[in-house]
Amino acid sequence: MSALVPQALSIRLQGCAKTFRDGTRALESLDLSISAGETLVLLGPSGCGKTTTLRLIAGLEQPDAGGKVFFDDTDVTTLGIEARKIGMVFQSYALFPNMTVAQNVGYGLRILKMPKTEQQVRIREMLAMMRIEALADRRIDQLSGGQRQRVALARALAVRPQALLLDEPLTALDARLRDALRVEINQLLRSLGITTIYVTHDQAEAMALGDRIIVMSHGRVEQIGTPREIYHQPGSAFVANFIGSMNQLRGVVTPQGFTCSAGCLNWDRSGVAERVLFRPEDVSIVTSSEFAELTGVVKASFFMGDHTRLLVDVGDEAPITVLDDARCPQAVGQKLYMRVAPLGLMSI
Ligand SMILES: Nc1ncnc2c1ncn2[C@@H]1O[C@H](COP(=O)(O)OP(=O)(O)OP(=O)(O)O)[C@@H](O)[C@H]1O
Ligand SMILES: [Mg+2]
Repeated sequence: MSALVPQALSIRLQGCAKTFRDGTRALESLDLSISAGETLVLLGPSGCGKTTTLRLIAGLEQPDAGGKVFFDDTDVTTLGIEARKIGMVFQSYALFPNMTVAQNVGYGLRILKMPKTEQQVRIREMLAMMRIEALADRRIDQLSGGQRQRVALARALAVRPQALLLDEPLTALDARLRDALRVEINQLLRSLGITTIYVTHDQAEAMALGDRIIVMSHGRVEQIGTPREIYHQPGSAFVANFIGSMNQLRGVVTPQGFTCSAGCLNWDRSGVAERVLFRPEDVSIVTSSEFAELTGVVKASFFMGDHTRLLVDVGDEAPITVLDDARCPQAVGQKLYMRVAPLGLMSI
């Protein structure tokens, strides 16, 4: 399969800011390097500048003066999208409704004036890769969302792009299909070794797909790192709260540890901490007060299928979230004794 991609491309943005004509500052000056073959995920809330960044890379927008886009060592800042040899899949798929599946997949090849017989071979190859051969002659409006998504990917890959830009390609799908396609896209990207920039606001998707993740907010980069770094070593309160769920307790560092209204946590790091953060999965429920670091009262309980999610009042501003057994969870109103894994404690 790797023969499909002639050579993966590295991409570099240098001082790329974007101010739209109406004065909207969509992107602050961004420096970013994407290695050849890497899958980089842009993650952040609505309006933070994800699509704008993608459009700058695609050549659909120009950066403000001084910004530069490099493909390998070539400055492509002034090149349009046709010259950039990029495959793009938009959130809405942007398929041609009046064409069949095969015609959609072959669209870019016709633009490239590839000989007809070669086009047929390539189209068949792409349909097979996406396992939609049987749909070749269907119209787009006769397809399900997941099938459309595959056609959009096949169309983007048919021209053997040097890089693939995906803008929330799974958002329109239901959760189950999204999970399944996420796995498929992951395998596809790994087997093709194609440089990919994947935009999403879904953090589970970002974790599953990204070699690295960029978390953005208000046109700025909050953090760039591997999924594990972003999850376990969030660089800011924004990142900590945006990715996964996070508990927070206020207190003071004492000789005993981190002392808060609910008890005392095992905190032996130097320096002052006025609040500590930890994830629900790092809290364990213990049976006796003797082993407890924190004491609280169960305020609410949500059955999630594979576990029960408890909201526990510990006398702080907000309750903490604790994961409990699926089959016999603690009852609401019950007193709860807890410990927190020392490695899971963070202060930001
Ligand atoms: N053509 C435009 N003219 C003016 N402002 C724009 C234009 N396109 C985008 N913006 C603004 O720039 C900011 C960033 O937009 P962008 O589309 O990059 O966000 P996004 O992160 O992709 O959000 P979403 O998750 O909702 O797709 C937003 O405030 C948006 O309103
Ligand atoms: Mg967008």
